[in-house]
Amino acid sequence: MRAPLDAAGPPPDPEPALPHTRQWRPGVVQEVAPADVLDLGPGYIEPALLPVPLLRDAYAQALAEYGAAALGYGHNPGAEPLRALLASRAAAADGRPCDPEQVVLTAGTSQALYLLATALAAPGDTVLTEELCYDLGRRIFRDCRLRPAPVAMDGSGMLPEALDEALARLAAEGARTAFVYLTPTHHNPVGHTMPTERRRRLLEVAARHDVLIVEDDAYAELPLDDDTAPPPSLASLAGYRGAVRLCSFSKTLGPGLRLGWLLADRALARRLVAHGLFVSGGSLNHTTSLAVATLLAGGAYDRHLTSFRARLRDRRDALVGALRRTAGERVELRVPQGGFFLWLRFGAGADESALLAGAARAGVGIAAGSRFGTTQEVGVRLAFSFNPPAVLEQAAQRLTTAWAGSMPEPRIGVRS
Ligand SMILES: Cc1ncc(COP(=O)(O)O)c(C=O)c1O
Repeated sequence: MRAPLDAAGPPPDPEPALPHTRQWRPGVVQEVAPADVLDLGPGYIEPALLPVPLLRDAYAQALAEYGAAALGYGHNPGAEPLRALLASRAAAADGRPCDPEQVVLTAGTSQALYLLATALAAPGDTVLTEELCYDLGRRIFRDCRLRPAPVAMDGSGMLPEALDEALARLAAEGARTAFVYLTPTHHNPVGHTMPTERRRRLLEVAARHDVLIVEDDAYAELPLDDDTAPPPSLASLAGYRGAVRLCSFSKTLGPGLRLGWLLADRALARRLVAHGLFVSGGSLNHTTSLAVATLLAGGAYDRHLTSFRARLRDRRDALVGALRRTAGERVELRVPQGGFFLWLRFGAGADESALLAGAARAGVGIAAGSRFGTTQEVGVRLAFSFNPPAVLEQAAQRLTTAWAGSMPEPRIGVRS
């Protein structure tokens, strides 16, 4: 029998893990490919890596520690214990001050994007995005009647001169730009991390045009190589003026928590929290935020991150290694330093629909590059986060076999 929630003493032993098929229940979680498909499509965490016992204990501890206060309407910007912990983590990581007044808890990055798109923009406004970007972010902007418009990028992210031109053109046309949307760290889908100098130049351009930068940092806590901590966030480089940073526990603890946070200057944080959504319902995901606060306070979150990153690294290396082995000289690898994704580029004349059909015939799920926007090159995205190494190796083998005949030029590139 499980110990009562308020009993002293060690937490009960975790129950044995359920088999994979029972853990991932149709009708309970978002749909995935059928069981016989090796699914490298979605940016999900592999079920076995989701920390179920850790969260069970965290909820129990939060309810024991906060009692009824854990079940009331939460303090509008989010419970102070978690905001204080998040502010000091940001200050330590970026080497710049950040205080709890600058932190607003959100229901994940998706909800934060919706909040910004409704609180700071008006229908018809433009949102400038990287040519290739998180497609569902673009979907949220469209659903809010905003107009996403692509800006050219290279292997380091959005090009400052292209942003400058786009902002000047929109101003000349009398169009209003709501904000610039960037994913500078462990980019989805292409995997690159923007160097500090590029971050500074983009901030300088946006500041000159008096336009806000929205920095989607969903993968910031997932550098996979010990010697590659990401550069300081754009928001911290800007002293939080003119840039707002969106973070999430979806990619580290689990998307079902629907918990994230944003970092902004105090005035913008206050303005956002004045939204009826907070005034009516209080903090978003209050009980969960207290559970997660216990994990941060006691060091369990950092211990989990260390082991989670090691497991992700194994998966990335397994996929990259298998692509190298099976595609031989035809594969040009640029390994992402973190996050969930490998972006494969194909040589001139490649046909995306033929690549997708080949993957489908081989029983491998992948994400079409065109989902994320259009560029000169044909590409596809492979997620290494959702399957164990052996499955990733098998998928790589199947893909290179399936694609060998469908590419006019036998080159597969993986870039960071
Ligand atoms: C770049 C990016 N932003 C946001 C999200 C969604 O984040 P959340 O689960 O916090 O809403 C994702 C998830 O795939 C993502 O890749």
